Amino acid sequence: MTSLRSAAYPLGNTDAEHERLIRQAKRVAPITERFFREAGIRRGQRVLDIGSGVGDLAMLVARLVGSSGEVVAIERDPRSIAKARARVSEAGLHNVSFIESDVD
Ligand SMILES: C[S@@+](CC[C@H](N)C(=O)[O-])C[C@H]1O[C@@H](n2cnc3c(N)ncnc32)[C@H](O)[C@@H]1O
Repeated sequence: MTSLRSAAYPLGNTDAEHERLIRQAKRVAPITERFFREAGIRRGQRVLDIGSGVGDLAMLVARLVGSSGEVVAIERDPRSIAKARARVSEAGLHNVSFIESDVD
């Protein structure tokens, strides 16, 4: 029997899945941003993003909290983290850090 601890992420971490996540994030970004604003995410806050994938949500929140705030993003897949770091750098954001870890 496979324990939850060792279970693979059901949608996988392939290039195709990464591209799907990016398309999905773009499409719902206005809704996501409104949701976080209504939830009280503000400039200067520190936010933990668990299961950060290729970083879309982390980047959106990084812009909301601004340079006086910070996002710490945890992801267990090293390829996803490498892509996320490259995207954050390309976006010129300096307030996001990624930690490779399995939260289980
Ligand atoms: C829906 S995707 C990420 C979506 C991402 N937040 C975004 O902005 O597009 C979920 C991610 O959670 C990661 N994940 C699943 N279980 C995890 C665990 N136990 N610890 C760390 N990361 C995990 C997967 O590898 C996958 O990249």
